Amino acid sequence: MNLKQPLLLLFILLSTLGFTQTSKRDQVMSKLITDNYTLAKNQYLYMMKQVPKDSLPQSYDKATNKLILNHITWWCTGFYPGSLLYIFEQTHDETIKAEALRALKVIESNQTFTENHDLGFMMYCSYGNAYRLFKDEKYKQIIFRSAESLATRYKPKMKSIQSWNKNQYFNCPVIVDNMMNLEMLNWVSQHGGDPKYQAISETHTNTTIQNHYRSDFSSYHVVDYDLETGKVLKKATHQGAANTSAWSRGQAWGLYGFIVMYRDTKNIKYLNFAKNIAKFILHHPNMPEDKVPYWDFDAGLQPLAKRDASAAAITASALMELGQFTTGKEKNEFINAGVKMMESLSSDTYLAKVGENGGFLIKHCVGALPLNSEIDVPLVYADYYLLEALKRYKDWYLNK
Ligand code: GLY
Repeated sequence: MNLKQPLLLLFILLSTLGFTQTSKRDQVMSKLITDNYTLAKNQYLYMMKQVPKDSLPQSYDKATNKLILNHITWWCTGFYPGSLLYIFEQTHDETIKAEALRALKVIESNQTFTENHDLGFMMYCSYGNAYRLFKDEKYKQIIFRSAESLATRYKPKMKSIQSWNKNQYFNCPVIVDNMMNLEMLNWVSQHGGDPKYQAISETHTNTTIQNHYRSDFSSYHVVDYDLETGKVLKKATHQGAANTSAWSRGQAWGLYGFIVMYRDTKNIKYLNFAKNIAKFILHHPNMPEDKVPYWDFDAGLQPLAKRDASAAAITASALMELGQFTTGKEKNEFINAGVKMMESLSSDTYLAKVGENGGFLIKHCVGALPLNSEIDVPLVYADYYLLEALKRYKDWYLNK
């Protein structure tokens, strides 16, 4: 018998199986994207009626049935306008758009704020999306000014951007979350701004590899530096279970940040690093079957430990982008894991019904458990990253 024939048949069978799996995944995702964006529109139309003029929503207190609001310089204030812009993009609802534009105005003055490192979160998730959609030159200038403010926190001796100011716990802390603020710096350098911003972001990333990460590709939450000498004073946590533990949202921030750094620099070192972080997260023995992590991978008391749905949303969005830069089995593993996270977050366990949950989409997030803050609540950034993950699947994989 001709040997080529069975091999050809096998090839056709395997390709058909792969194709069937992908189209089944597309069917699931197509429904999730439509349903979640319809829900998001209705939820945010409901929520916006409770949002006051001068502050933006962060969470919701079920006991009092009231939104929890924050001052405009709190790190989360870019997510409400950012989510509204994602919803507008998919639904073209003009009331949603008007509220997004109003919310952008509320945080506009943050562009000159220099008291923490969160400028990227606040000003790029918001104004970055606004510029992407509307190409208004004014938004671009606000992003440029925000990058200038963030760059004031770069400390050459430490080769890092300082996250928080000196406080009772830390001298000059840098947190792994800071990887999320680099996208805005890269963007400004790549859109006619000073190349120094991307240089800062690359140096910061290299220092993060050196000082934040352990040999298993898990990350410390905080590295505290001596501002004068740049020496590492200690490696610790602020929001995790222990100094040596893997705080779940921190792992998600790191993963997302390294993927952005690869996208913006094409430095293969960052891609390999991101893949290793993804494997640490996805292969962790304490990762639950539904792929919504406990608030810390080393939380203890599993399976009773609280989940952090925000970590799943951020990871899902990051994995969608990692799928863009990988091939074959690896690509499938990353996309399928992200899809599983989106499916879980869209189940009755995690997803609110219209009018519930203060208008937020996702339930069961944890902000800072050791500080007894925001435990098992909705958090504005969980919604933002779920919406982003759904959009990414639609743009990059659906029917492709
Ligand atoms: N600092 C961001 C966070 O709490 O995840």
